[in-house]
Amino acid sequence: MNIPDSINVLLIGGGAREHALAMGLARSGRLGTLYATHMENPGIAKLAQGVDVPATGKELYRLVQFCDRKNIELVVIGPEDPLAEGWGDTLCKKADGSARLVFGPGAKGAQLEADKAYAKQMMRAASVPTAEGRVFDHFSHVEEYLKTRDEVYVIKATGLAKGKGVIVPTTNEEGIKAARDMMEKGAFGGAGKRILVEEKIAGTEVSVLALLDGHNILVLPPCQDHKRLGEGDTGPNTGGMGAFCPAQTIDDATMQQIESEVLVPIADVLRRDEIDFRGVLYAGIMLTPAGPKVLEFNVRFGDPECQPLITRLESDLIELLWATASGSLDEVEVKFSSQAAVCVVLASKGYPQAPESGAVITGVEEAQAIEGVTVFHAGTKLLDNGFLVTSGGRVLSVTGLGDTIEQARERAYQGVEKIHFEGMQVRTDIAHDAPVHS
Ligand code: AMP
Ligand code: GLY
Repeated sequence: MNIPDSINVLLIGGGAREHALAMGLARSGRLGTLYATHMENPGIAKLAQGVDVPATGKELYRLVQFCDRKNIELVVIGPEDPLAEGWGDTLCKKADGSARLVFGPGAKGAQLEADKAYAKQMMRAASVPTAEGRVFDHFSHVEEYLKTRDEVYVIKATGLAKGKGVIVPTTNEEGIKAARDMMEKGAFGGAGKRILVEEKIAGTEVSVLALLDGHNILVLPPCQDHKRLGEGDTGPNTGGMGAFCPAQTIDDATMQQIESEVLVPIADVLRRDEIDFRGVLYAGIMLTPAGPKVLEFNVRFGDPECQPLITRLESDLIELLWATASGSLDEVEVKFSSQAAVCVVLASKGYPQAPESGAVITGVEEAQAIEGVTVFHAGTKLLDNGFLVTSGGRVLSVTGLGDTIEQARERAYQGVEKIHFEGMQVRTDIAHDAPVHS
C-alpha cells in the first residue's frame, strides 16, 4: 500500500465514538497532526488541534480550504449526519482537483442508513434476509393496515432520528399512536413523515461491522449493543447505553453466513449502482430461529460499539482507515487484542427525551486511573473555572479492558463507581448475559 510516513488527519464529530477514534489516531505511528472539528469535547481537545473555520454543511467550502491549507490527506467522518449530507463527496476533492482520501461513504452510500425505505429496497434487491416491512406515507393507511392485523408491528421513522426513531410496541394501538406522533405530530421532524411498518422478530442482537473499500470487505469482531434505556432491555430505545466486544453469542459459522448473505450481496448491489462505498458498513442483526436477519444498516462506526472496538484494536488505525479509503484493504491485516472490552454509558437525567445539562461531573480522573479503564467523553464540557459539566444526553463512555468479558465488565463498573453527577442514568446489566469465556 502506498502510504506516507506522516499524515495530517481531520476528524469530524464530537461524541465518545470520535474521542475513541481520536485516541486510535493519536496512537498511530503515521500521524502528523490531528485536527478536529469538535474541540468542545474535552477528550478530543487533549489529542487534537482545532479547526479555525465553521464545520457546517452550508460553508463546507471553508472546511475544504482548511484541509488544503493544512495538507490534510485523510478525513475521517464519524457521525451519520455529515455523511448523509454528502460531506464526503465534497471533502474528497482538493482545490486543485486532485483527490483527498475520505473515510466514510458519500451521500448515496449513506442513504443505506439515512433512508430505511431505501435500505429495505436494497435488501430486497440483494436478497438479504430481513424482517418484512411496508413503507407508508399517509397515517390513515397505517391505521387501516394495523387495525386489521393480529400480530404486533414495529414502527420506524425512515429518516435519521439519532437511534430513537424505532418504536417496538406491545399492541398495535400503541403502534398506531407512535405512527400518529411521527407522521402527524412531527415527533422526529421530517425523518418521521414516511414510516416503515415492520414485522416484529425476536432473538439475540449483534452488531456486525465491516470495512468496505469499494472492492474488498474486512469484517471486524462482532459487538453487542444495549439500545434500551432500562435494565433488562426495558424502556425507550436510545443511541446505546453500553456495548461489548467480542459478542460470543455468535459463532464463526454465523459470522460467515452474515458475510456471505448480507455484507457481500450489499457490497455487490452498491457496486452495481456505481456507489463507491469506502467506510464502515454496520449491520444490526437479529439472530432468529430462521437465521440471522438485518434490522438496520448504519454507515459508520456504532456508538458505543466503536469504544470497545478501538480499545481492543492493536493494528495501526491510520493504516487501516487509509487502506479503506484508498481501496487497499486487501493489503492490510487487522489485529485485535485477545482481551475483551465492555463499555458502559453514563447518561444525563431526562435522556433520551429531554436530557438536562450543566450538572457537575466528578471522578473521571479516578476512573481513568484504574487499570484497564478508559473514559471517553461525549456530552461533557470543561468550564473556564475547571469544572467538568454535562452538556448532552450521553455523557461519558466508561470502557474496561480485561482478559475475559467478566473482568472487562468488572473494571468498567469500578470506573463507573468513581464517577458522579446529578441525575446520572446508568444500566448495571451491560454485558451481563454475555457468556463468560476462558
Ligand atoms: P434499529 O435502529 O432499526 O436497529 O432498531 C432499534 C432497535 O429496535 C433494535 O436494536 C431492536 O431491538 C428493535 N427492533 C428493530 N426492528 C425490530 C423488529 N423488526 N422486530 C423486533 N425488534 C426490532
Ligand atoms: N449503537 C447503535 C448505533 O450506533 O446506531
